[in-house]
Amino acid sequence: MLVLGIETSCDETGIALYSSDGGLLSHTLYSQIETHAEFGGVVPELASRDHVRKTLPLISEALANAGVKRGQIEGVAYTSGPGLVGALLVGAAVGRSLAWALGVPALAVHHMEGHLLAPMLEEDAPAFPFIALLVSGGHTQLVEVSGVGQYRLLGESLDDAAGEAFDKTAKMLGLPYPGGPELARLAGLGDSGHFRFPRPMTDRPGLDFSFSGLKTFALNTKYKVLPDGHKLDEQQIKQVKADIARAFEDAVVDTLVIKCRRAIKESGCKRLVLAGGVSANKRLRERLWDTLKKEGGQAYYPRPEFCTDNGAMIAYAGWRRLKAGQSEPLRFNAQPRWKLSDLPTA
Ligand code: KG4
Ligand code: ZN
Repeated sequence: MLVLGIETSCDETGIALYSSDGGLLSHTLYSQIETHAEFGGVVPELASRDHVRKTLPLISEALANAGVKRGQIEGVAYTSGPGLVGALLVGAAVGRSLAWALGVPALAVHHMEGHLLAPMLEEDAPAFPFIALLVSGGHTQLVEVSGVGQYRLLGESLDDAAGEAFDKTAKMLGLPYPGGPELARLAGLGDSGHFRFPRPMTDRPGLDFSFSGLKTFALNTKYKVLPDGHKLDEQQIKQVKADIARAFEDAVVDTLVIKCRRAIKESGCKRLVLAGGVSANKRLRERLWDTLKKEGGQAYYPRPEFCTDNGAMIAYAGWRRLKAGQSEPLRFNAQPRWKLSDLPTA
């Protein structure tokens, strides 16, 4: 079965083709970074308009790159939620109409299921069951995964998602959008031992998270070290910011690692999948890899380009469900809020 995948939930248009025989045949991505950079964050209306401009040309490009004709597509999968409603509607409208025009089944994919299954695009794919740490701009969740659609939420963030905390702290340090990767880069120049930030909610039982306090901690640290009228030169200011970035990153990574270790101990499952935009973070990947090794288990991640939003994960998740016989009726829907646990088993 050959499936076309369409991702338009936020600020990236991602298109991919996945087939039963050939695996991932092609994938294309257009990032809207330049569109949103001058505003310091995603402007939803501009995101929708960019998806309108890019979705069809990128589909043509993905087909050409794979050497596939439109008529060979046997199913269309599109992200239906969660995400920005206008952005989602573009992919859903294109995907559902294209499936109707081609006379093939369509499938509405849950964006976080796409992230969660993304490591299965790699050669060393995890087997079920596993524990998944989903860390994106909108979600931080620990999920027990027994199969496609068999998801039990173990814990989640009570306030900001990890990626959101990265983005807000980056903005506070004067870094450009998109903040997460910029902050990680700056943290690489920082000294780990200079400031010590708290590890929120690790001193009590449970697997929930809270990250909003860390950005306030970063802000207060900045004001304490760089008060009005301070005498530091440009290089010294840059070093202070790098040290704050490092302390923030260390705190987020440590907290995530502590909770993952706890989830593994409590569940007895020693396979851990790390997915979502923040899983591109090098220090998080290294720490989880070492932790799982020490525990006698293994960590699995997508390659960095499939950590952040992309079409490949949507084509793959759609393919898993379409080949199991699932499809959508002749209508489409955007689901800005949609719980993973509401998905059917495939
Ligand atoms: O999965 P994703 O592309 O979009 C959502 O579904 O939200 O995740 C984007 C998030 C952003 O908050 C971004 O700052 C964060 O992932 N991110 C990172 C890194 N790369 C992306 N955070 C920390 N370190 C990174 N290297
Ligand atoms: Zn995402």
